[in-house]
Amino acid sequence: MRALSMDRAAVARVGAVASAASLCALVAGVLLAQYIFTLKRKTGRKTKIVEMMPEFQKSSVHIKNLTRVEEIICGLMKGGAAKLQIITDFDMTLSRFSYQGKRCPTCHNVIENCKLVTDDYRKKFLQLKEKYYPIEVDPVLTLDEKYPYMVEWYTKSHGLLIEQALPKTKIKEIVEESDLMLKEGYEDFFSKLQQHSVPLFIFSAGIGDILVEVIDQAGVYHPNIKVVSNFMDFDENGVLKGFKGELIHVFNKHDGALKNTEYFNQLKDNSNIILLGDSQGDLLMADGVANVEHILKIGYLNDRVDELLEKYMDSYDIVLVKEESLELANSILQKIL
Ligand code: TMP
Ligand code: MG
Repeated sequence: MRALSMDRAAVARVGAVASAASLCALVAGVLLAQYIFTLKRKTGRKTKIVEMMPEFQKSSVHIKNLTRVEEIICGLMKGGAAKLQIITDFDMTLSRFSYQGKRCPTCHNVIENCKLVTDDYRKKFLQLKEKYYPIEVDPVLTLDEKYPYMVEWYTKSHGLLIEQALPKTKIKEIVEESDLMLKEGYEDFFSKLQQHSVPLFIFSAGIGDILVEVIDQAGVYHPNIKVVSNFMDFDENGVLKGFKGELIHVFNKHDGALKNTEYFNQLKDNSNIILLGDSQGDLLMADGVANVEHILKIGYLNDRVDELLEKYMDSYDIVLVKEESLELANSILQKIL
């Protein structure tokens, strides 16, 4: 009885081992098939460049159409430095949105935070920001609906600033003492473009004098840079009396772009473009370009991410969510230059 029961147990064990082995074989088979399938897909699909770039593998990178991005990058690589030009926004694109969990200032905030302005100015400036910034990043309103509010914001904000009678001589100090920071990797970005004489067009609805000073103090204000922005106008005593030219706000970059056709006409052969922005309005920055062969649009999405991601992915080729570095742009430049 005992001997017989042992035999049955042995048979059961052998059976269990056999079925475990066949299960293993099945799993291995499925894994192998999956591997071969992925390998085939990878070699069949034209996404070799992007897939091999570690900067594209980060969770902050969102791309709707990888094949298209691959094609554009291929086109940019073929054209090289001779055909390339960069068109970029400044605030929250070249500059950081946050650092160590704290919001970083825009050009306007640099003045708001400086010690030369009155508390009353700061209070009113903040009230304006609280009213108009939510409109700027509202996920539902259209650009046309936002447009008049932005004109209102800028007109009031600049009006308040003019009352502060800032001296031109203090700009340097105001910037030195500010918390504005360029994105990580800015040295590489600026120096590579300079080395290869790639034109860099900075198109900002911020304050030109502030952003030029920021870039200058960072030691990267090279001759290949052209800045179009709201530049301050000073009286004969060097006191702020207004702003030069027409107002540039977040959503009229189309008009501004068309006013710079002379610049873009000189760059007729630079038909390959990398555009960098953080707002839907920044997509209009290349509208003045005479001749576009390939354009790669990279968008930094900093705020209200969940509601805006889809919209950004529909309009920007590459969306970088809460990304505080320029490494992806630098990695693409590395391939082209
Ligand atoms: P940008 O075109 O370089 O991004 O600069 C525009 C930013 O400036 C935009 O995000 C709104 C911001 N801004 C302020 O922070 N404070 C202000 O008072 C105004 C008028 C604009
Ligand atoms: Mg911006």
